[in-house]
Amino acid sequence: MKSSQEILGREAESIPVSSRIKYFDMVIDHGKGALLYDVEGRAYIDFLASASSANTGHCHPRVVKAIQEQAEKLIHFTPAYYANEVTSSLLTRLADLAPGDFPKKVAVGTSGSDANDAMIKFSRGYTGRPYIICFTGAYHGSTYGSITLSNVSLNMSRKIGPLLPNIVKLPFPDTHKMLKNETEAEFVERMWSAFMEVFETWLPVEEVAGVIIEPIQGDGGIIAAPKAYLERLYAFTREHGIVFAVDEINQGFGRSGKMWSIDHFGIEPDLLTIGKSVASGMPFSALIGRQEIMDSLDSPAHVFTTAGNPVCAAAAHATLDVIADEKLVDRSYRLGKVAAAFFEKMQTQYDFIGQVRMYGLDGGIDIVNADGKADEPATTKIIYELFKRGVIMISLRGNILRFQPPLVITDTQLNEGLQKVQEAFEAYKNNEIELPDDGNKIGW
Ligand SMILES: Cc1ncc(COP(=O)(O)O)c(C=O)c1O
Repeated sequence: MKSSQEILGREAESIPVSSRIKYFDMVIDHGKGALLYDVEGRAYIDFLASASSANTGHCHPRVVKAIQEQAEKLIHFTPAYYANEVTSSLLTRLADLAPGDFPKKVAVGTSGSDANDAMIKFSRGYTGRPYIICFTGAYHGSTYGSITLSNVSLNMSRKIGPLLPNIVKLPFPDTHKMLKNETEAEFVERMWSAFMEVFETWLPVEEVAGVIIEPIQGDGGIIAAPKAYLERLYAFTREHGIVFAVDEINQGFGRSGKMWSIDHFGIEPDLLTIGKSVASGMPFSALIGRQEIMDSLDSPAHVFTTAGNPVCAAAAHATLDVIADEKLVDRSYRLGKVAAAFFEKMQTQYDFIGQVRMYGLDGGIDIVNADGKADEPATTKIIYELFKRGVIMISLRGNILRFQPPLVITDTQLNEGLQKVQEAFEAYKNNEIELPDDGNKIGW
């Protein structure tokens, strides 16, 4: 077996810089549940779950079996031309699973990004209007449509423009933006005025097709919008005939302690995008939405040859079975409480821990300096120390620890991982962490 260094050395000759977000030199050999093993045989507790695409854990036996059995039967024939049972039954299942007691249809793809492109297409198609509203801090993907909706890194727009026209970015009600002594109600009022200003000054509301939002932003830092804000936004869309879409690609399938992050708000969206964990990381995505919106485009306005692949669909059926049978949504809620209690305790012990935001097994933990400002170097050190101690964690926005373990993580693994987090905090406090020569720049 080749070493990590050999594999990475060879890979460096062929992988473009834009395709890897730099962390540490590890090459994964295999995974099981919430554990990953590198090619040197070292085990890691996974607090990232492949960017929330492994909610059922790595290589869940039921998912593996479903993939194997389907691969023996039919690997692919594009549903763009002919149906297969496993994919078509999944469409019904997904339509039933999405919130809203109204007829729905499901357009499939292979990545979260193309599901969000679909959101743009169908919203425009249904309304006949051009503009789409999205929010600062959002990440919606990497295709031209979805990267235009995204607002997390200048490198996602630098050198690649022009991006898609008529995408308008408005300020997400990020709780970091709350002023000292401002109440949540005052904050919502202020953010809502910023939203409305656009419609009072240059953007005719009757030209807006759709709004897309992550009710709990993932890459933005695991930050929930205030409920009152989302309610206003939803009411605004009802008043003006605008399609209301939520992106559940990162937060769906139990991640936030409910099946969907929008379930925290009691709102039924017109459109909902899914990907990542739906098929336990196999390439499958979908836009699920009200029938009349989903029927607004004519064939072949939205087809991909490999979308709706039956092996991926079989994996998705098995994934949904596992989520239901192992009660993973409840598990996320319950273990999320354990993790929240841990991080809140850490907050009282270490003054470099700022806000702690936890929704199920879904957390953003801010690392701050003495002035309460984002501390990226400290975050880098803590993450490196965790890596050395066998815990995979990454940062968001440079200074937020991203906590998203597989929902199947055992109580013991969770406690062991959290214990190592405490050890890393202690090591940072005691100034004991030395970064490797190239270790000072991680993340995006
Ligand atoms: C909220 C959200 N939407 C969309 C995407 C894009 O999904 P994909 O990378 O599968 O295209 C991501 C990926 O991180 C995401 O977090």
